Amino acid sequence: MSSKFKPGAPVLDDAERMSRDAMIALQTQRMAWSLKHAYDNVVHYKKAFDAKGVHPSDFRQLSDLAKFPFTVKTDLRDNYPFNMFAVPRETLVRVHASSGTTGKPIVVGYTQADVDTWSDVMARSIRAAGGRTGMIMHNSYGYGLFTGGLGAHYGAERLGCTVVPVSGGMTERQVQLINDFKPDIITVTPSYMLAILDEFKRQGLDGRKSSIKFGIFGAEPWTNAMRTEIEHAFDMDATDIYGLSEVIGPGVAQECVETKDGLHIWEDHFYPEVIDPETGAVLPDGEKGELVFTSLTKQAFPIIRYRTRDLTLLLPGTARPGFRRMEKVTGRSDDMIILRGVNVFPTQIEEALLATDWCGGHFIIELTREGRMDEMTVLAEARPESWDGAGLTAQADKVVAFIKNTIGISTQIRIVAPATLERSLGKAKRVFDKRPKG
Ligand code: DLL
Repeated sequence: MSSKFKPGAPVLDDAERMSRDAMIALQTQRMAWSLKHAYDNVVHYKKAFDAKGVHPSDFRQLSDLAKFPFTVKTDLRDNYPFNMFAVPRETLVRVHASSGTTGKPIVVGYTQADVDTWSDVMARSIRAAGGRTGMIMHNSYGYGLFTGGLGAHYGAERLGCTVVPVSGGMTERQVQLINDFKPDIITVTPSYMLAILDEFKRQGLDGRKSSIKFGIFGAEPWTNAMRTEIEHAFDMDATDIYGLSEVIGPGVAQECVETKDGLHIWEDHFYPEVIDPETGAVLPDGEKGELVFTSLTKQAFPIIRYRTRDLTLLLPGTARPGFRRMEKVTGRSDDMIILRGVNVFPTQIEEALLATDWCGGHFIIELTREGRMDEMTVLAEARPESWDGAGLTAQADKVVAFIKNTIGISTQIRIVAPATLERSLGKAKRVFDKRPKG
């Protein structure tokens, strides 16, 4: 815990006090509604359920969900822009869209009741992270079609915080506003928090003396090593927030500041399953696989068994026993690099680099092909105080050996000068695949 954190009794809403049995009863009732709502009002779901020979009336208990079809990203793309909505378009108060690296974006929509639900789960998330009514929240998640900015914004207003809606970018000004407005909470991607930290240092300021007590970091994978780095630099408590546009946005799951032991899933609104990504079979809690979500209360954009591609496992609740937890998402199946037969996630490289004293967490991975061999080169930035002007070759050799021993791959490391790598304003792009296509 940071020296700024004064733990009091956690403030809980009614659902956070529910027993596990009460939660399961609530989920069963809401699931029956959500399946029927999707079937009756979205052509895609009617077709998909009929094709699988299942009807919402076949659902009696939560284990029956396994009979229903999955929804995948291409289903949403094929129904671009508005065909997945279950209510008349005129009743939507807002749409968001995922950036999508290729092709059409995924469009999601909200009724006023959906925005209220979202605000409630986001307010609950901010509270779980340590936030309280009356605090100032500096929100650096991007505003716009991305759900991060507005999602965090409405949740903070719902909790009764004063929101500073900065969005991403203009890092110098972010630091000035933090110094002048003295926020208690910051909401931002962990990679952009590092850019803010650089700017603190550039201005000769000590992050540990800043007013920030709580950081709510998500939208991209990050490691506990990165948590330690950021907590130490700002003397703050950093927790993980998870969400995705297709399910609602940020606020699907949140780590509790008291325990920092994985993210409690707000299961009164979002029902999780973990499946074997190859066979689609539902795995028991505790086994790692692909996370799948079904919305229980959403009106405009019900989502049934959505395959997130995020890899994690489910655990029993701790700080909020009515809710299960998910282990920190350290990678998506899409981000996995297969290098000469070994699976590697960028977060494993992050961990190896942050185990050194010369790297502060700025890195990218380049993949190239020499003849028939795939090569991986990690470009890692040195901390200003560690930089020797010549590439820290002895340190590079050590990390190469460490990665070989821990991950089992041969990689090349190039240590580059401070402020060489481009900073992300939102989600960091870690992997640059320069291998010839096809
Ligand atoms: O990133 C929503 C969000 C905004 C979450 C702000 C947290 C904070 P999308 O742009 O639709 O939505 O991207 C969703 O981002 O499937 C994960 O792969 C990844 N992701 C989100 N949160 C985390 C996290 C927002 N805490 C996709 N850890 C998801 C790891 C995360 N990955």
